[in-house]
Amino acid sequence: MSVPASMCALQQTSRNGPQDMRLINDAPVPVPGRGEVLIRVAAAGVNFADISKAHGTFLDGPRPPYLAGFEAAGEVVAVGGAVTGPQPGARVVGVGNGAFAEYMVLSAAAAVPVPPGWTEQQALGLVVNWPTALAALKPLGVVTAGQTVLVHAAAGATGQAAVTMAKHYGATVIATASPGKHETVLALGADHVLDSIRGDIAGDVLRLISGAGADVVLESAGGTTFEASLAAAKRVTGRVIVYGVAGGEAPITNWELVYKHQVHIIGLNIGVLIQAAPQIFGEVMGELFALIAAGVLTPGRPTAYDLADGPKALAELETRATVGKLALLP
Ligand SMILES: NC(=O)c1ccc[n+]([C@@H]2O[C@H](COP(=O)([O-])OP(=O)(O)OC[C@H]3O[C@@H](n4cnc5c(N)ncnc54)[C@H](OP(=O)(O)O)[C@@H]3O)[C@@H](O)[C@H]2O)c1
Repeated sequence: MSVPASMCALQQTSRNGPQDMRLINDAPVPVPGRGEVLIRVAAAGVNFADISKAHGTFLDGPRPPYLAGFEAAGEVVAVGGAVTGPQPGARVVGVGNGAFAEYMVLSAAAAVPVPPGWTEQQALGLVVNWPTALAALKPLGVVTAGQTVLVHAAAGATGQAAVTMAKHYGATVIATASPGKHETVLALGADHVLDSIRGDIAGDVLRLISGAGADVVLESAGGTTFEASLAAAKRVTGRVIVYGVAGGEAPITNWELVYKHQVHIIGLNIGVLIQAAPQIFGEVMGELFALIAAGVLTPGRPTAYDLADGPKALAELETRATVGKLALLP
């Protein structure tokens, strides 16, 4: 298969946000190194982290100018040395640098097969959003049947997966979402949905479950909602899994942990989990494929944009205007 020397890609040119992302047509096609594969990108996944990177707030993020995006699915078209995994023709999904492009290099070891019968687009989320949701619920949140889980951004890519899996594990789900997204969340099986913008989240959660607090809180909202998440968690045993800062940073002091919020606060970064706890990540991916085989997790249905409309897609994600996963098609 012939691979061109240059390609179209979205280049982030500043730290002023996605507005400074522009389409270029002369980006060099990357060459797979040892242990790497080159894929022809069929669909790239948009993530909230793309916004943090574009604003320069992602820890150790790329320096502009850089090719944006980090999640993509496509067909392997070339392999580097010592690759025993996916071979040309295989359809895989994975993370790397420069996904908003026609071609992208992935680590062969971390390239996950697109489930049989699924399109590449439908597999987006499988390596970022879904393992994050599952890691938050199971190895970290230790959710069990009959417990209550509070899921923020429940209509989003990560949140939808979390609601679906929490219901599968027998939990009562209290979701939060912007008012226009409530039907989506209820259709996934959430038991209650609260207004993420104007609601009294802690008060409503405590009212719904008779003052006891949620056993597990999936905290991705940050900002002022972080305090509400802490207040909504069950005293002594409640676990707050913190994996997003969409609304900005929020502090908590040791005084507050002793006198106000006697809860477990657990940080989650899926990239660090992959590196530092590969066995846990392997178990998470094994469970995800079991949930796919059982029909619990079904092919994703991302909203697709042309690659050139990437800045628009990111702007809509940033302003809370989107529902579910977003895909860019090169
Ligand atoms: N730590 C990790 O490894 C990891 C991995 C994947 C994702 N994440 C995090 O998980 C969260 C969801 O990511 P995603 O890619 O699936 O995005 P998403 O949920 O599809 O979209 C973000 C949603 O967050 C909600 N939100 C709450 N406060 C917000 C604010 N101040 N500004 C913008 N949005 C706000 C909005 O939902 P409503 O308007 O409905 O409230 C918005 O639609 C993000 O915080 C992301 O950083 C973390």
